[in-house]
Amino acid sequence: MRNFVSVHDVTDIDALVKKALAYKANPFVDKTIGTNKRIGCLFLNPSMRTRLSTQIAAQNLGMEAIIFNVGSEGWALEFEEEAIMSGTTVEHVKDAAPIFGKYFDILAIRTFPSLKNREDDYSELYIKQFIKYAGIPVVSLESATLHPLQSLTDIVTISESLQHSSLGAGGKPKIVLTWAPHVKPLPQCVANSFSQWITAWGKADFVITHPEDYNLSEEFTKGATITNNQDEALKNADFIYVKNWSTFNDYGKIYESDPKWMLTNKKLDQTNNAKVMHCLPVRRNVELSDEILDGPNSIITQEAGNRVWAAQAVLSEILRTNG
Ligand code: CP
Repeated sequence: MRNFVSVHDVTDIDALVKKALAYKANPFVDKTIGTNKRIGCLFLNPSMRTRLSTQIAAQNLGMEAIIFNVGSEGWALEFEEEAIMSGTTVEHVKDAAPIFGKYFDILAIRTFPSLKNREDDYSELYIKQFIKYAGIPVVSLESATLHPLQSLTDIVTISESLQHSSLGAGGKPKIVLTWAPHVKPLPQCVANSFSQWITAWGKADFVITHPEDYNLSEEFTKGATITNNQDEALKNADFIYVKNWSTFNDYGKIYESDPKWMLTNKKLDQTNNAKVMHCLPVRRNVELSDEILDGPNSIITQEAGNRVWAAQAVLSEILRTNG
């Protein structure tokens, strides 16, 4: 593995999941493979789980992790080729990225979309420019359209939960991705990425449900059943993945905030006692009800805990294949 920016960087999802779960059972088994190696974690946007779990994962492998909050503490970066930098940007990625390449062995980056221009966001210019100019492996800590470390974690969590379910480790669960209300427009990254990974994994009946006009890019949802009827979607679900996202066609808008889309215990009754997932952070009683989040079906803390093991599996693969 050279870079980790989407599911296309992974040749065997189950092998990576197995590796993550092995690290969960034995976190320090590879505690020297990253000795004298350094990962630079660049945050152009805020984070809690991704930042801390990546740092812990690197340390478990013997790496030093250096965090740089570029968005709030660094020079404003320019990403456009041939830009005339007479505005607010101070340093071009073409100049900054090779320096990161000298300082670090792996570069990890979080950068959100603008939600203003779909073409720009979906071109993934920022992460592509870092890959082009850094000269070292690049890991996405969430980009404009995808959140691969979150999605790997989600499959790790589903696989782990299946081992203890009546379906068993080899069972084929029904997984439902459901849109939820929110107060502000959010990126499509988590929903895109979850769809991309679950369809590539191919081991689930995968249903996406959302209000009209909230369709995701077909690039990521091919193979999923898509419906605007949430009740129909939830029937016999084994896992429900709750997430808000803003509109894709009329890009970055909120059309719908009807609380009827929020998951409740009454809705959960239609399911196969489904486990409920969310990437976090979550707006309580807007996106998800207290009764679900504090109830026995929620596996959100287990899911967030697994962020460490997913990151550790990815970093160790990159260390193994890049020397
Ligand atoms: N799920 C997730 O990426 O959380 P953070 O934004 O806190 O990193």
